[in-house]
Amino acid sequence: MTRFPPGPGRLAATRGMLPGRNMAGIPGFLRATVARYGPIVSMPVGRQRFYVVNEPAAIEDLLVNHGRSFVKGRGTQRLERLLGRGLLTSNGAFHLRQRRLVQPAFHRERIAGYAAAMVARAERFADGVRAERTLEMHQAMLHLTLGIAGETLFGADVDREADAIGSALDEAMRSFPAAVSPIGELLDHFPFLPIVRRFRAARATLDAIVYRLIDERRRAPAPSARGDVLEMLLAAGDGPDGMDAEQIRDEAMTIFLAGHETTANALTWTWWLLARHPAVAEALGAELRSVLGERAPTFDDVPALRFTRDVVAEAMRLYPPAWIVGRRAIEAAPLGEWTVPAGAVVLASQLVTHHDPRFWREPEAFRPERWSNGETDALPKFAYFPFGGGTRVCIGESFAWTEAVLVLATIARRWRFAAAPDLDELGYQPRVTLRPATAVPLVPRAVAPLAAGLGTR
Ligand code: HEM
Repeated sequence: MTRFPPGPGRLAATRGMLPGRNMAGIPGFLRATVARYGPIVSMPVGRQRFYVVNEPAAIEDLLVNHGRSFVKGRGTQRLERLLGRGLLTSNGAFHLRQRRLVQPAFHRERIAGYAAAMVARAERFADGVRAERTLEMHQAMLHLTLGIAGETLFGADVDREADAIGSALDEAMRSFPAAVSPIGELLDHFPFLPIVRRFRAARATLDAIVYRLIDERRRAPAPSARGDVLEMLLAAGDGPDGMDAEQIRDEAMTIFLAGHETTANALTWTWWLLARHPAVAEALGAELRSVLGERAPTFDDVPALRFTRDVVAEAMRLYPPAWIVGRRAIEAAPLGEWTVPAGAVVLASQLVTHHDPRFWREPEAFRPERWSNGETDALPKFAYFPFGGGTRVCIGESFAWTEAVLVLATIARRWRFAAAPDLDELGYQPRVTLRPATAVPLVPRAVAPLAAGLGTR
């Protein structure tokens, strides 16, 4: 007979895991559950057996050592309604083949090539900021990272469509709790329901944009050798075991959305945390002055921008843009000291593990210095996993680090942001990604040029 780790009973577990209208209760339920029952929890949810893993070695089993015994979980499966069968949602040999096809667009020298566009767009953003004129940072960062992903990965200008893409994404995020609810599949059969209608309209908007990008590239007079994602996809599409138009659409849509939304969230949380911690903003300014002086950063500056990176790392610890990974076991597999049976659902949540006091001193505090003062040197490998791990590790990890560091450095060199007076707290919305629960109004203050002396005005 299978032995299960301790955990709550069916009623409490099923109630705790119900997405409700906004999924807001799930992270708290997961945290309370591991606090009460221990780092590996098992519980019956509906007719399924769930595991929650908050033990780094067991997370490594799940993602790396025994990754082949698992496929993506239900949340990801339901994402197929929007993303189709792209890299994020596909499994097995098919996933591996697709990943190999796209990978060259993410090689180090390609990312070095994208860096100039990242900085140029961040400079343009900084040019448009006006002192004391409050801006909504989440929208601003979504526009910025969308523009960067469009230009670097798809060789396209999507600035004009930014609002339409933003609204469509909002709508898709809004419909996610219903989509992953127990009646999610049923909803698909009622196209006249407002929530289904709105989702379909949002998908149609995004489809039209992604198909336009693909068509434009196909019709480009001289085939370019940009080495970007679109080129990899189209080249593979024309090959002997090529992809059909829909498969190209699925891969492009996945990278188009995954390639900007998460980084926008990471940057938004970072600006918010900096606004709440002026001493950290001051230390960041000091690094930027010493490494860059009066110039904008380049790809070669990234290694020297250590503290800038630590600020991003710490923001992603507190507010991991990807807050949970889910898998389903396709065969019995070891998980730490336990064995999960085939069919079990396993969840590991960055939002839970990144706040665990066993690994983090003052877990709720924003302390970027912990990343360079030795405190995190002995951290178990999967106590921090904002990009997942194993064969399904984020393909855009280096892209995202480079982008976040360069965007933060470029803008923070010129601007500081304070929280608008009515913004004391910023809650989160756990959907597909961890988004701010409300708008994020921040007030820009210009950083004085070096020659003018110290500090900000
Ligand atoms: C701060 C930014 C980002 C974070 C926190 C993040 C996080 C993640 C995580 C945790 C996964 C693994 C999910 C799982 O195991 O179930 C993932 C996968 C993925 N990410 Fe990211 N990501 C970020 C940026 C990006 C960027 C910039 C791109 C593309 C340009 C991207 C494209 C993808 C894709 C395609 C996958 C699926 C990979 C596969 O399964 O082969 N992500 N991401």
